[in-house]
Amino acid sequence: MPYAHITGWGMSVPEAVLTNDDISKMVETNDAWIRERTGIQERHIARDDQFPSTLGVAASIKALKIANLRPTDLDLIICSTSSPEYIFPATACLIQDQLGATKAGAFDLLAACTGFIYALNMAAQAIRSGSIKNALVIGSETLSRFVNWKDRNTCILFGDGAGAFVLQASEQPGGVLSAVMHSDGSGGDLLTIAGGGSRYPSTESTVLDGKHYIQMDGNEVFRFATRVMASATEEVLACAGLTIDQVNWIVPHQANIRIIKAAARGLKLPMERFIVNLERYGNTSTASIPMAMVEALEKGQIKPGEKIVMVGFGAGLTWGALAAEWTGPIPSKGHVRPEQYRFFARLRSVVRRAIRFIEGLLYRREL
Ligand code: COA
Repeated sequence: MPYAHITGWGMSVPEAVLTNDDISKMVETNDAWIRERTGIQERHIARDDQFPSTLGVAASIKALKIANLRPTDLDLIICSTSSPEYIFPATACLIQDQLGATKAGAFDLLAACTGFIYALNMAAQAIRSGSIKNALVIGSETLSRFVNWKDRNTCILFGDGAGAFVLQASEQPGGVLSAVMHSDGSGGDLLTIAGGGSRYPSTESTVLDGKHYIQMDGNEVFRFATRVMASATEEVLACAGLTIDQVNWIVPHQANIRIIKAAARGLKLPMERFIVNLERYGNTSTASIPMAMVEALEKGQIKPGEKIVMVGFGAGLTWGALAAEWTGPIPSKGHVRPEQYRFFARLRSVVRRAIRFIEGLLYRREL
């Protein structure tokens, strides 16, 4: 049975930064309150021409470069997002087209902020089963588009960004060791974007009611999160046959520093074992775990052979954890430049659209 190794990683955030002071000019709040109650200092916000696919492609190219893999080597692309570009087509297909990943199946996965853990697990299981060899898993969000900038309960929390991992099959032991996924739909109403779906299709009245914005019961979500972070970590470790002492790093969903501190207390671990970067990005939902991982890897914090647990929670309600042994890229010959494929991907996309158009004309003439 092949093992599923994480062999490439990358992240991308929009350039524009929104500080707590900037937000205090929009709603009644202040920098001290936001820092104390959440740990967040600033977040990045996408420009009008930046979308989950834009950020996802940039993160993916970096991940492919580290894995030394061509887009055409990919068998599967899973994009985890709660702010997809459209209801359909899937953001994963937009990314597939922009990368030129001509042999990959592509789909979106929605498990809110837990999505990246779900998606990594799905890709790892596909590799473990032997059905595929190379997968790209992306967490990408522009949740700022769904934030009500007049609601101080939510607008202080969220930021935009993307993270991507390449997973590859290898006979060498290591990589993804175990994963657990949980849900409790009875808490679905605690965190929602209700408008624009098939229950509340967008109309003038849904927009006037603000149904297209994130609605959240912050206190209840907080209570749920502090309950599940430690328990999911313990459960995933038991599945992997590991004890907490054998784990080098916990990479939690970056929602609120007080939630992470509660998890540390629950697990009786010092905060030094937790990877945290939420002060600079806020809650980037499903992108937060890979973004925290990428920064830690770039700083040389996580080293080959170390064991890590990624743990998250989110709307749904969903929560889950994934344990992995870090191995890094699989040594390979040659030097792949995935960014060069972007030009050919664009060209291919234009040519395919043109062919489809001409074929359509000919077909209609035949009728
Ligand atoms: N600035 C200043 N005051 C604020 C404020 C803000 N941005 N937001 C709320 N307050 C006020 C409240 O009105 C309340 O005032 P009151 O006591 O006069 O009524 C007071 O601060 C305390 O509010 P409360 O909601 O109890 O604060 P909190 O400490 O629970 O923090 C959250 C609020 C939203 C930061 C916190 O509940 C949280 O992080 N929840 C989890 C959210 C989350 O992670 N969501 C994403 C899940 S993936």
